[in-house]
Amino acid sequence: MEIRIVRPGSKAARRSTADHVEKTHDTGRKELPITPVGREQLKNIMNELNDLVGLHSVKKLVFEISAFIEIQKRRQQEKLVSEPLVLHMIFRGNPGTGKTTVARILGKLFREMNVLSKGHLVEIERADLVGEYIGHTAQKTREQLKKASGGILFIDEAYSLARGGEKDFGKEAIDTLVKAMEDQKDNLILILAGYNQEMNEFIKTNPGLKSRFPIHIDFPDYTIKELLQIADLMLEKRQYQLTPAARDALKRIIELRTGKGYEHSGNARLVRNLIEKAMRRQAVRLIGRDEITVADLMQITDDDIEKAHEVLRVNQFTKKENYL
Ligand SMILES: Nc1ncnc2c1ncn2[C@@H]1O[C@H](COP(=O)(O)OP(=O)(O)OP(=O)(O)O)[C@@H](O)[C@H]1O
Ligand SMILES: [Mg+2]
Repeated sequence: MEIRIVRPGSKAARRSTADHVEKTHDTGRKELPITPVGREQLKNIMNELNDLVGLHSVKKLVFEISAFIEIQKRRQQEKLVSEPLVLHMIFRGNPGTGKTTVARILGKLFREMNVLSKGHLVEIERADLVGEYIGHTAQKTREQLKKASGGILFIDEAYSLARGGEKDFGKEAIDTLVKAMEDQKDNLILILAGYNQEMNEFIKTNPGLKSRFPIHIDFPDYTIKELLQIADLMLEKRQYQLTPAARDALKRIIELRTGKGYEHSGNARLVRNLIEKAMRRQAVRLIGRDEITVADLMQITDDDIEKAHEVLRVNQFTKKENYL
């Protein structure tokens, strides 16, 4: 877990105290106090984050960032030097490790803290930014930046922008994004996401990127125990239950899918896919019956789970999008 909050204004912090009182560093953001209603909302958002299974280091860092923002605002009210808030981030982790979920929560959090005006999340990938002819990429990128204004622009597999080297239009997209980070710095947060190794390489391709993305968050793969907890949480929310045999079956499948040969197993996404497919298998199993009890409606059996896994396996080989 890496925590790096680069503070471009830190030279100012070394100035004399007298100077501090006179010159407040201007973050350029609207500095509104957090109201009691806002405080309640903040608590709810933090609870939403805390309710996520695992992710301890992520939670700790989000708490640290939110404390930092609030203290900078308080310092500003007291006319002390405050650091400019640079909140662009890099998320590193495998698919299904909770990156989008956490980004969405951050959007809400930053809106409540008056860092962003809307706090919505626009999730895109290379194809949404990179065009086919000269000038097309800048135009596409600007459109996405406009959509995300007031919120978070989340670029999945961002390293693919640097894939084609100097001549590729991906570079034009990066240049446009970097420029926007300056122009829209008060009302847009950029999050670049992708696999660990690829993201590290990506940062190295452009010397300006490292300092522009001061916050790096690592999303580790979930343990088997955490994946089972995530399954329980998903089922509870949907008012379904696993029979003991179904739980054993799920555990076996998760063990298999996180073992050797399944390096990018899908993490929580695998669990969600399995559960959603099992729910449909259950429906097919029940639909022909004359009598269906409440318990029947809630229960997922081992057979439902096994069949759901079978569908996933078949689709993995055929690479088909599937609907049971
Ligand atoms: N810690 C967690 N606790 C509970 N549910 C989780 C957790 N992490 C992820 N999930 C659930 O798993 C699913 C996948 O998570 P998410 O989309 O955030 O992953 P991701 O890292 O963005 O994946 P991808 O790289 O494939 O886009 C979502 O339905 C999400 O609600
Ligand atoms: Mg995602």
